[in-house]
Amino acid sequence: MERCSTILDIRRFVSGQKRAGKTVAFVPTMGALHAGHRSCIDIARKAGDCLVVSIFVNPTQFGPNEDVDSYPRVIDEDLARCREWGCDAVFSPSVPEMYPESQTVWVEPGRAAEPLCGRTREGHFRGVTTVVGKLFSVVEPDVAVFGQKDAQQATVIREMVRQLNLPVRLLVSPIVREEDGLAFSSRNRRLTRDERRRAVALHHALGHGLEILSGGEINPRKICEAVIKRLNDDGVDRVEYVELLRVPDLTGIERVEGKVLLAAAVHVGSVRLIDNRVVQITADGHVSEAPLFDVD
Ligand code: PAF
Repeated sequence: MERCSTILDIRRFVSGQKRAGKTVAFVPTMGALHAGHRSCIDIARKAGDCLVVSIFVNPTQFGPNEDVDSYPRVIDEDLARCREWGCDAVFSPSVPEMYPESQTVWVEPGRAAEPLCGRTREGHFRGVTTVVGKLFSVVEPDVAVFGQKDAQQATVIREMVRQLNLPVRLLVSPIVREEDGLAFSSRNRRLTRDERRRAVALHHALGHGLEILSGGEINPRKICEAVIKRLNDDGVDRVEYVELLRVPDLTGIERVEGKVLLAAAVHVGSVRLIDNRVVQITADGHVSEAPLFDVD
């Protein structure tokens, strides 16, 4: 496995692969790799001949009062995992390598960035689209894989790729959960034992929302209120949002029908956690889990 810390080195690696006729699959990450990343990596390995993973905690997607400094950084552990999981190259640049000067040119995200985290984390998606734009321009992947846990992020990137005509095929990996149902997240490492015990409430509350939906409730406000109540009863420290939106455009809905995203963000101790479920409701009211978006 190749480890590249500079843009020049990863460009050399990728162009060598392309000259040899190989397609490049890419998984961008911020490190602290877990089973959710592994699932993206497994999908990427099958989707391309050569697999590149980036590990970069991107400062521009964190707000001034967010956790960029406490975000877990375990590069040696991550490199060992990438080797074990069959990656061909890891791109792990420094902040000055990615941002050699103060950034004045940004990739402005589209409409999908407006609800959910876009409302509560100002500037977050502009940081994401800008860094993913930079990474795509450096790695030039044929295919890139994102996790469904960050469903809004995947949707924002999809809108960017389509509207900027970027030659990248996007794939989404399903959410991978720990044994009790908590979605894998790099931030789970920061939960204390008590917080970890309470964090599973997020999974249970979303499941409760889907039960109500399956029982025939079509009013999105009533479903979201029931989820919020369950989250508060089960002891999360703060509910940031719970929303039901239409998939794939993430617009608001008056009644639940078609394909929808039930998404939530909560705080447990000092840790912010997100999770979601995507479901399809048929005309006769049958509810089943569905992929976030069909492959383009
Ligand atoms: O999902 C993440 O880990 C990050 O938002 C990403 C896509 C690597 C951009 O920094």
